[in-house]
Amino acid sequence: MHSFTELSTLFEKDFNRRHFPLNPVNLYDAAQYILRIGGKRVRPVSVLMAHELFEEINADAFYAANAVELFHNFSLIHDDIMDKAPLRRGMETVHTKYGEDTALLAGDVMLVAAYEEINKIDFSKLHSILILFSKTAKEVCEGQQLDMDFEKKEMVAIEEYLQMITLKTSVLLAASMKMGAIIGGASQGNQNHLYEFGKNLGIAFQIQDDYLDAFGDPEKFGKQVGGDILTNKKTFLLIHALTVANDKQRADLNSLMQGNVVDKVAKVLVIYEECKVGEWADALKEKYFNLAMKHLEETAVMESRKIELKNLAQYLLQRES
Ligand code: IPE
Ligand code: IPE
Ligand code: MG
Ligand code: MG
Ligand code: MG
Repeated sequence: MHSFTELSTLFEKDFNRRHFPLNPVNLYDAAQYILRIGGKRVRPVSVLMAHELFEEINADAFYAANAVELFHNFSLIHDDIMDKAPLRRGMETVHTKYGEDTALLAGDVMLVAAYEEINKIDFSKLHSILILFSKTAKEVCEGQQLDMDFEKKEMVAIEEYLQMITLKTSVLLAASMKMGAIIGGASQGNQNHLYEFGKNLGIAFQIQDDYLDAFGDPEKFGKQVGGDILTNKKTFLLIHALTVANDKQRADLNSLMQGNVVDKVAKVLVIYEECKVGEWADALKEKYFNLAMKHLEETAVMESRKIELKNLAQYLLQRES
């Protein structure tokens, strides 16, 4: 079994090439740019790691890994337009550097490239992978729409938030695990447990992402800290704060969300801290981490083979970027 670092090095060796032709330069440079500036490669490593539970890593697993990473980067380019984000992976976002029109197209072409990778998978597995990948891709779009709809809503229930992050983020991690399992010839039961493992882990992963968006170290985070506050995202931080806040704190939060208040981020952060959102974040992450681990336990594979997936789960929740 390979560790996260070993698998990401292995993945990088294959993935770190030109994925697009040279011309038109403006389009393909933009697409190559985001792939080159890195990222943790969590999803492709998940494909490879889940696959390795069942058999030695083969070419099909790499095609699936490439596809999920291309899809992920497509979603990031479009997400940064929607979120008006200036920074990604410590660098300018694609639309800031190349303009929105090119960024849209660079995302589109990357989605097509993802399907081209899927299409290389052996015929015997292709059908089920294609169904899963397409279902997941639609769900991500649905989650992204809910995320934007919620910006305009005054109040969002925690259940709605959890449903939204499940769609926009966790189903892709879930599908990555399941794709690895399908390619590895796993039983339906094991495929489903790995899907649920990835799904619950993905929820915890997005909770950590939302926490870091408010409280991350700008040096390490690589994205604009406070971006979610500026765009009135209904993260669990805000939902929890509004739930436990006293009348004054609630009124302050509500007025901070109207318009462009000076020092909005700093002022919201003070209320978040007063409402102890960090403690709540830890409890919420732990809940989904434990659910994930339960599904990993129920996966019918020798315990000794699961160690790297456990390490991956732990790493994802402690990450600072
Ligand atoms: C960012 O994902 C988008 C979310 C779903 C939170 P990652 O944190 O995996 O981004 P990279 O690929 O490592 O940059
Ligand atoms: C993004 O969620 C989910 C997708 C890209 C589909 P975020 O908007 O929180 O991701 P970051 O923080 O920009 O990476
Ligand atoms: Mg974003
Ligand atoms: Mg977003
Ligand atoms: Mg985020």
